[in-house]
Amino acid sequence: MSRKACVCEARFPKGNCINESQFSAHNNPTIQSHCKPRHQHLMSSNAVPQFAEENWYTKAVDYWSTVDPTVNGMLGGFESVCPVECAASLDLIHEFVNDQRGADNVVKKEARVDKTYACDCGAGIGRVTKEFLLRVPFAKVDLVEQTPKFVEQAKHEYLKEEMEAGKIGNLYCMGLQEFTPDSGKYDLIWCQWVLGHLTDDDLVSFLKRCKDGLRPNGVIGIKENNASKGYIVDEEDSSVTRSDDLYKQIFKKAGFKILKEKKQHGLPAGLFAVKMYILTPE
Ligand SMILES: C[S@@+](CC[C@H](N)C(=O)[O-])C[C@H]1O[C@@H](n2cnc3c(N)ncnc32)[C@H](O)[C@@H]1O
Repeated sequence: MSRKACVCEARFPKGNCINESQFSAHNNPTIQSHCKPRHQHLMSSNAVPQFAEENWYTKAVDYWSTVDPTVNGMLGGFESVCPVECAASLDLIHEFVNDQRGADNVVKKEARVDKTYACDCGAGIGRVTKEFLLRVPFAKVDLVEQTPKFVEQAKHEYLKEEMEAGKIGNLYCMGLQEFTPDSGKYDLIWCQWVLGHLTDDDLVSFLKRCKDGLRPNGVIGIKENNASKGYIVDEEDSSVTRSDDLYKQIFKKAGFKILKEKKQHGLPAGLFAVKMYILTPE
């Protein structure tokens, strides 16, 4: 790939620098990256990344174990975007979880999705649970997160009040590649800034398992960075940033169709595009 093909995009929410020479040294056919604010020189490729390395998942655990268990840590130093980011998620889900009413306040269309139980996948310390899912408000939220220190922080500090109020169900400390939701449990399974850590095959399998975890009319919500094309690999934390097209191929392969898709607006310039998708089984 020529130097001209090298693009500079900022990682959100994650910060790291891989320059072209480091990239060559890794002899990896792809590069770009994924969530959290960091600037780096990256190259994209349509070639499927070398996911199959033995330590693909352990490298991610090692990386995240070095990150502060704070909102700033979850957002790679861009703590200030949290309100605008969560407001966009609330706006996206609004039409699914609320009745639509006419001018006379008569219900024109009933809410498709109940607000009983949500699951926050790749939850970190529970930022999305606190600032989005419990504001919808879902009555109860489970969290799935593979870095133990984030789960501990969620349990004992960040979500302490919500735990005491009975709004938090299970905190599963495990990777999404191993997580199988209980059958028919969730109205919404939300995955944010985490799916780049899963290999394509594991992501398809995970989404297929999620299908069984949905209650009737339940949906999957996905919010991830988008590469402009192909894959961008971050070797440091074992993640990829996928293009919109690649995500759509994966959703189809897993047996989902898109009910709604929307770009996140209002983020600082120079970051990856962030896209939200609401999916339902085909
Ligand atoms: C950028 S943070 C986002 C956290 C949260 N979704 C948010 O937006 O505040 C990515 C999170 O994904 C977690 N993670 C990485 N790989 C994972 C995997 N395979 N399964 C579950 N969680 C994972 C990390 O430990 C980290 O907490």
